[in-house]
Amino acid sequence: MKTKYMKQQLTFLSQSVGKVTSLALLLLSSSIPGNAEKIEIHTPNNSLVVDLWKDGEPKFVYYGQRLSTYDLNVLPEPTNANWSHLELFPAYGATHTMSETALAMTHVDGNMSTNLLVQDYKVTDISDKAPNGKERSGKLLTITLKDPLYPSLVHLYYQAYNDVDMIECWSDIENLEKGTVKLTQFYSSCMPIRRGDVYVSHFHGSWAAEAQLVEEKLNNGMLVIKNKDGLRNATTDRQEVMFSLEGKAQENAGDVIGAALMYSGNYQITIDTDDSEYHYYFAGINPDNSEYLLKKGETFTTPHVAYTFSNEGLSGASRNYHTWARNYQLRHADKQRDILLNSWEGVYFDINQKGMDQMMADIASMGGELFVMDDGWFGDKYPRKTDNSSLGDWVVDKNKLPEGIEGLLRDAKKNGVKFGIWIEPEMSNTTSELYEKHPDWIIKAPGRKPVLGRGGTQVVLDLSNPKVQDFVFNIVDNLLTKYPEIAYIKWDANAPVMNHGSQYLSKNEQSHLYIDYHKGLIKVCQRIRDKYPDVIIQDCASGGGRANYALLPYFDEFWVSDDTDALQRIYMQWGTSYFFPAIAMASHISATPNHQTFRTIPLKFRCDVAMSGRLGMEIQPKNMTEAEKTLCRQAISDYKKIRPIVQFGNLYRLHSPYAGDNLASLMYVSDNKQEAVFYWYKLETFVNQHLPRIKMAGLDPSKKYTVHELNKIDTTPLDCEGKTYTGDYLMKNGLEVPFKHIVNYHDQNDWASRVIYLKAN
Ligand code: GLA
Repeated sequence: MKTKYMKQQLTFLSQSVGKVTSLALLLLSSSIPGNAEKIEIHTPNNSLVVDLWKDGEPKFVYYGQRLSTYDLNVLPEPTNANWSHLELFPAYGATHTMSETALAMTHVDGNMSTNLLVQDYKVTDISDKAPNGKERSGKLLTITLKDPLYPSLVHLYYQAYNDVDMIECWSDIENLEKGTVKLTQFYSSCMPIRRGDVYVSHFHGSWAAEAQLVEEKLNNGMLVIKNKDGLRNATTDRQEVMFSLEGKAQENAGDVIGAALMYSGNYQITIDTDDSEYHYYFAGINPDNSEYLLKKGETFTTPHVAYTFSNEGLSGASRNYHTWARNYQLRHADKQRDILLNSWEGVYFDINQKGMDQMMADIASMGGELFVMDDGWFGDKYPRKTDNSSLGDWVVDKNKLPEGIEGLLRDAKKNGVKFGIWIEPEMSNTTSELYEKHPDWIIKAPGRKPVLGRGGTQVVLDLSNPKVQDFVFNIVDNLLTKYPEIAYIKWDANAPVMNHGSQYLSKNEQSHLYIDYHKGLIKVCQRIRDKYPDVIIQDCASGGGRANYALLPYFDEFWVSDDTDALQRIYMQWGTSYFFPAIAMASHISATPNHQTFRTIPLKFRCDVAMSGRLGMEIQPKNMTEAEKTLCRQAISDYKKIRPIVQFGNLYRLHSPYAGDNLASLMYVSDNKQEAVFYWYKLETFVNQHLPRIKMAGLDPSKKYTVHELNKIDTTPLDCEGKTYTGDYLMKNGLEVPFKHIVNYHDQNDWASRVIYLKAN
């Protein structure tokens, strides 16, 4: 078969990608000849090449470092390949049965086999609004596939960004048959990855121990990572993975492919390694108990997968995700985040007017900018005294707060801080007025009693039901219409789907619950953002249970974990940073002994860890000594200096806590490489301990940087304090830092950490 690389003529198209689907794109549609054509789309540094020919299966050719036209023309010919099958979107049943397939459906006539062959393709310039509302531009490759036996179409999309190394891929399944078809498998995308010494980095977790890094060599067989929680799809395993293509993962060297599925519900990732030369990565909605009936004329759109390639190791791939996230995913990612105090670990449910006022005054006195009142402020007939009642009854508990939210806003103003509030809008308790009124609004198996969650009474509202969607929207709408001064909302979700059943969906459509719930949730989030584009909203789900790129476009940040223990946070924040930027990672200074691990860590170390993310506090300041408050005041003031570097800068992970040698280190460097901040944490102490010197990364080798330690507690300055080093020296040698703090004898302890600010002259 003859192959030629087709140079695309591109025409500008200004419309939203969501609408692109079946519009005649006017452009460039090619009638594909019998010859295979290699189609390339690229980002600044990445190329993706596919091979298409009329009535043939679409094939993968290449994904990696951007190719020159010359190299494109000499790429191997996959249609002749005897080394691999390289399907781009294999469908089940006609020719593929033994290996994993991207799509499986039962046609109107009961036929379970599908054969997806190329009909057409087009490459269009796009310029539209990204999910976070920002303008973006890029190229969209649309490949239209069809089964010779059936009229239905599958549109496969690859959208390449012009200014960031990210290609998003997804598909539309358009039912043009005479009746309803049944979808039984519906991955968004398949990406072949050349075998070799490939390692995959993925994340496992649980409540209070999210994003624990797992690194393993890819081997024969199937590796399946999936979530079945129903609501909180990032609590256990995460839907983002990185492939290190050249042996064991390295932070700042080597080729890496990153793949982030962008879904808020149950997902499935399968890496299928058969006897060919490729690993096949599949990602999409988890089909378990989720068969989808697609009516005549309807289109099923799968979630996106965002791919990146970097030859600068895992940290390089992370930086690509961070840039993409800050530019196009997260809300307000160009605005510095406020330093806040959250009331939860300080007072738990013990909310009252005086207490809130005191906390506001305290955070203001330490230099904070925002106070967030957490759980426990609501409920009339059933006041929220603990976690066993009141969710759904979003009215102020007048006993606790006689002056209502008005009083809180007044005190916030008086204290010079902004005010934020906690809600858990998708939930109810069986002890609530809402449940008494609308028992039919909750998720529960037909004919059975509801299974009850937190507090022995928590139930989940059924967001597949439009009335419930309205109810959830109205919670936010009522708060923000009545109190437009509310600057911040913490949106929590503390339950999974505990038994299966929708009282809203028809009996034939019960299997739509997991999917329709999330369609409903996204609709509500979109409505909220359409009306309230400015309010800052935190995405929380029993901690980091909803750190995902389906929801983040509607939110500004997420709560990394309910575990605020600084030592465990180093591991969790390390894992979280693979895909999410520091500006999104809420990281709070809390009390000792820690409320989750009961570990006692000195305040200096707690500050140093929290300062590597979006800094906040979660503590009762009333219980802090003056010396502790002074240290926090210093930390907050120092953080304000480095806030733009942490929140908008580029991350270089330097030394992994997972290396097992008692050290972790990372740094952020500003875009212009004029400023950087370096973090160093000792994880355990031994006598006669030897730790490596950490080489820095990301600096300009020719610039000279002056070193200044932040959050300093030592009685004598570091040897490097105030000295100036070349970026070259710092990246080849690093700085010597003492393994312990030089403090008065009785102030010594077994913890040591450093935050070092570097400024180019
Ligand atoms: C969840 C959140 C916490 C806190 C509590 C309140 O556990 O993750 O931060 O808001 O709920 O009940």
